[in-house]
Parts: sequence; structure tokens; C-alpha cells
Amino acid sequence: MTVILTPYRSDLEEEQVAAISELVAKDLSEPYSVYVYLYFLKEWPGLSFVAMDGDKIIGTIVCSLRSHHERRLRGYIAMLTVHEDYRGHGYAKQLIKAAVENLAAKGADEVTLETEVTNFAALNLYQNMGFIRAKRYHRYYLNTSDAFRLILPLTKKSTIPLAFLEPSIETSFMDKLKNASIA
Ligand SMILES: CC(C)(COP(=O)(O)OP(=O)(O)OC[C@H]1O[C@@H](n2cnc3c(N)ncnc32)[C@H](O)[C@@H]1OP(=O)(O)O)[C@@H](O)C(=O)NCCC(=O)NCCS
Repeated sequence: MTVILTPYRSDLEEEQVAAISELVAKDLSEPYSVYVYLYFLKEWPGLSFVAMDGDKIIGTIVCSLRSHHERRLRGYIAMLTVHEDYRGHGYAKQLIKAAVENLAAKGADEVTLETEVTNFAALNLYQNMGFIRAKRYHRYYLNTSDAFRLILPLTKKSTIPLAFLEPSIETSFMDKLKNASIA
């Protein structure tokens, strides 16, 4: 089996969004509407990846990059899933690595996400890659589960409280980033 990682392609939008939607609907804690994927994929087309086995999407990672209080650039992993027949082969790790390296290349100071406090597979996966628990959100999901906010600091700025950082990220820079193609 040869699985390759490839950036999300807007020319295959209909096909890819349907496949991503099916994959994610099966496994994640929230009943995401198709508009949620479209929002992420259209706003940040250069930040999401799919893992392909031939022409079949078997995994995906959907990301964004925003200014955090104009002081840091914060990458965000909105969704990550690997088809159950393909788990345990390192594909999630590869998807996260591709997404984090790409976010870092675009200037991200940190990468964050939320996961259910009982999702031990995801907690192991992210914590083994250096993510740390930053917060716990009570009844965060519609299914009433709590969530951990995980964070991977990439630059020194990520370790300095916001109050000690000067505003440095302009809106025009964020607009440029949104339109930038993948590295
Ligand atoms: C979590 C998920 C993405 C992992 O995908 P995967 O491709 O099987 O993961 P990988 O093979 O890359 O595993 C890498 C590491 O993750 C951890 N891990 C993965 N599955 C695990 C499990 N079932 N139990 C414990 N740890 C697990 C291990 O540390 C593993 O490293 P190792 O193989 O060296 O022990 C997959 O189980 C999934 O899609 N789950 C449903 C959706 C989900 O929960 N997404 C995350 C929401 S934040």
C-alpha cells in the first residue's frame, strides 16, 4: 500500500470535500456541516492536507492560521482523522508533521487544537510530538465531554505572556497569508 500526502486541491473541491466530510463525520465529536470544511479550505487553502491511497482519501488534516490578539501567529488544527482501515501505520503522525512544518514555514509561533479528554489515541499522538496540555474546557463538546486545549510552541514568542508582547501582526499581513500558495 502506498499512501501519499498532498495539499488539499481547490480544483477537486466537490470530490475532496465530500470525501473529507464522510471521513470526519464518522469519527469526530461534533456533527460538522459541509460549510465548516468549506470555510477552512477556502479561507486557508494552503494549510490542509489529505493522505491518498491511489485516488481514495484515507486521512485528512484541516488547519487555519490567524493572528492571536495581534501578538502571535497561531496555527490551529481543526480536524484530523485517518480511516479506520489505515490506522496504526503512522499516517496521522505524517499529516501532523506536514501541517506543522507548513505552518512554521508561514511564520506560526504556535499550533493549537482541542481534543476530548478521553481520546487517549489523540492525546498520545500529540503529546509524543511535543504538544502540551494548556487548558481544560468544561463540557466543551455537544456530547457534553470536556476538552483539553493542546499547544505546540514553535517560537519563543509562544512562551511569553501576551501582556509582555507588543502588537506586531498587521491585518494586511494576514490577508497576504490567506492568499499565499502552499510552500
Ligand atoms: C487519532 C488518529 C488520527 C490516529 O491515527 P493513526 O494514523 O492511527 O495514528 P499513527 O499511526 O500516526 O500513530 C502515531 C502515534 O499516535 C498514538 N496512537 C495512535 N493510535 C493510538 C491508540 N489507539 N492508542 C494509543 N495511542 C495511539 C501512538 O503514540 C502512536 O505512536 P506509536 O505507533 O509509535 O505508538 C485516529 O485514531 C483517528 O482518526 N481517530 C478518530 C478521529 C480522532 O480522534 N481525531 C483526533 C481528534 S483531535
